[in-house]
Amino acid sequence: MVDGPPESYSTQRYLAAKRTVDDRALNRRVFQDATAFLSDRDPPARVVEVAAGIGVMLERLLDRDALPDDVEYTMLDIDPASIATAEQRLPRHARSLGYTVETHDDPRPDGSFRGSAPSFALTLSRSDRRVEVRAGTADAFPFAAATDRTWDLLVAAAFLDIVPGSDQLATLFELVPDGGYYAPIVFDGATRFVPAVDRPFDRRLERRWHAGMRAGDDPNDPRAGSRVPVWVERAGGVVDSLGGSSWAVRPDGSDSDYPAEEAYFLFHVLRFVERSLVDDPQLDEERVREWVTDRRKRVGEADLRYVAHNLDVFGRVDTR
Ligand SMILES: C[S@@+](CC[C@H](N)C(=O)[O-])C[C@H]1O[C@@H](n2cnc3c(N)ncnc32)[C@H](O)[C@@H]1O
Repeated sequence: MVDGPPESYSTQRYLAAKRTVDDRALNRRVFQDATAFLSDRDPPARVVEVAAGIGVMLERLLDRDALPDDVEYTMLDIDPASIATAEQRLPRHARSLGYTVETHDDPRPDGSFRGSAPSFALTLSRSDRRVEVRAGTADAFPFAAATDRTWDLLVAAAFLDIVPGSDQLATLFELVPDGGYYAPIVFDGATRFVPAVDRPFDRRLERRWHAGMRAGDDPNDPRAGSRVPVWVERAGGVVDSLGGSSWAVRPDGSDSDYPAEEAYFLFHVLRFVERSLVDDPQLDEERVREWVTDRRKRVGEADLRYVAHNLDVFGRVDTR
């Protein structure tokens, strides 16, 4: 049975719930190309992950044994609460995989991280691998401009649709002047909640949801996935692999619940939709509220399926 809608919502819980959805969705070929590229670099392989959220990509790379044996992993996010959550999760996760975890207080992880905001430094060691982790709170763009370090691979997951455009990418590419980039889960313009309540209204709602992503104070690009290759080229990179990574959330085999925390994931997505559309002058507020209420009820009954299309991209950068 699914618990009803949560009493409160949190970004960190959403990012944790999103993990299994992304695990299924990530394009395997693009993932393999990115990790093979990293393995070919001289040790230590240096990764910088921007907009890392609560650090699930590093957890996944450890789970999948996808990292080389000597790695420096720098991760940052603009949200201090997410970096604080990563600090809680990562040592526990690494220990569960047999790593020894050593924490370092000083010196500060990276001169470019914001002074007083959460940051941490860890060494994860196992007989076959050593990962030096540096994590901190930072806006990726001033960070990229300020740091004098460079890395081999830039990771930016579920981020390029939030900060769309070739100028933004060119700034991020400064982190990896002759390296590579891996940008999975870039939204690409299709969302479906199934079954539909009323098909024409559902289609309108979907169109308004995507249109709202373009609105003034919310610069998300609902077609970012398809546009990434153009931005990459303008920013001085090439696309080596590109592939679909659709989210598909549905009840698991028992049909009475969703896998892992995916019911919460759906409630959170519905909240995004509600917040974005209740004030839309082109939609009737009452109907939007009824639509969201119906969708929530169906999640509670494990009767809602959700599909959203994304693309994953990996390639090389030559901005020297
Ligand atoms: C959709 S979440 C993805 C998080 C993580 N990559 C994942 O897939 O779980 C987007 C993340 O971008 C972060 N973010 C937004 N703007 C940012 C910026 N300018 N610099 C760094 N992080 C940013 C948010 O705090 C959030 O954690």
